[in-house]
Amino acid sequence: MGSGVTLPDTARRSLDHWSEAGRAEMEAFYALATEDYRQLAEARDWAADLRDHTLDGRIRLLDVACGSGKFPAALLRRGLPARPPVAVDLLDPSGFSLAEARAVLRTPFAAAAEHELLLQDFRAERAYDVAWATHALYALPPDQLAAGVARMVAALRPGGFGVVAQACARSHYLAFYEAYRAQFAPDVTPYTDAEGVADALGAAGVRPTIVPLHYTTGSADRGVVEGFLQRCAFDSAVSLEAMEADGPLGSYLAGCRDAEGAYTFTHVTHLMTWENR
Ligand SMILES: C[S@@+](CC[C@H](N)C(=O)[O-])C[C@H]1O[C@@H](n2cnc3c(N)ncnc32)[C@H](O)[C@@H]1O
Repeated sequence: MGSGVTLPDTARRSLDHWSEAGRAEMEAFYALATEDYRQLAEARDWAADLRDHTLDGRIRLLDVACGSGKFPAALLRRGLPARPPVAVDLLDPSGFSLAEARAVLRTPFAAAAEHELLLQDFRAERAYDVAWATHALYALPPDQLAAGVARMVAALRPGGFGVVAQACARSHYLAFYEAYRAQFAPDVTPYTDAEGVADALGAAGVRPTIVPLHYTTGSADRGVVEGFLQRCAFDSAVSLEAMEADGPLGSYLAGCRDAEGAYTFTHVTHLMTWENR
């Protein structure tokens, strides 16, 4: 992303980690978090969603905060028809993320434009048939969420299909981050939850259909759990042992651990979909 931009602190923490230097940590995270995208890919008939929003024989898709392309990768693993073709515009402030997501795309997806910027700064009107943001909006701070979500809604054409998948307040990512903030980083901005996104969509005139997806992830391997949790906090300096010490985070993690020390994390993702008017 260009220099001179004032970034919110969550976006700065996020960008510092969505980088080549953060690759090992990212891979540790996805040892467990790949399940988020498998769950999403199973949750709907996405081939029908794409087919139903085709215009002039093709689909123009905006992947908001594309990260490393885990959602399109999960859809491709599950299987999509080769047609209609889907021209994918990738949007992310991280050049690293854009390159990772581009490398994942295969037929029917084909990489089109890249927008290396924050969603709040994106300007496109009625340009897309489909726009999705999957586990993508956590780092939009509360005071910029409505503006960002409004940009996404405005980018869809009338009749276009919008998708946001976001964990809700009691889900692991949010509950963990609140406990982490309380214990280690009280000045850091909270993550945005699904409830906040639904409010922002409402302010943009959208009433999405919301389907909650319930599932768990976990591991008995402390190295895997540590890598996953460090990425959840964008903080690779705090060890699992330190996280488990007395305090809000320690007691949250105690509730995720069984007698043998294996971890299970409980997720509730809200899958929000709508058609633009
Ligand atoms: C967890 S990843 C998204 C995963 C992705 N949807 C996938 O399918 O793999 C979050 C991404 O959000 C990006 N990001 C952070 N703040 C953003 C903002 N304000 N606008 C757009 N993207 C943002 C980060 O750079 C990161 O690449």
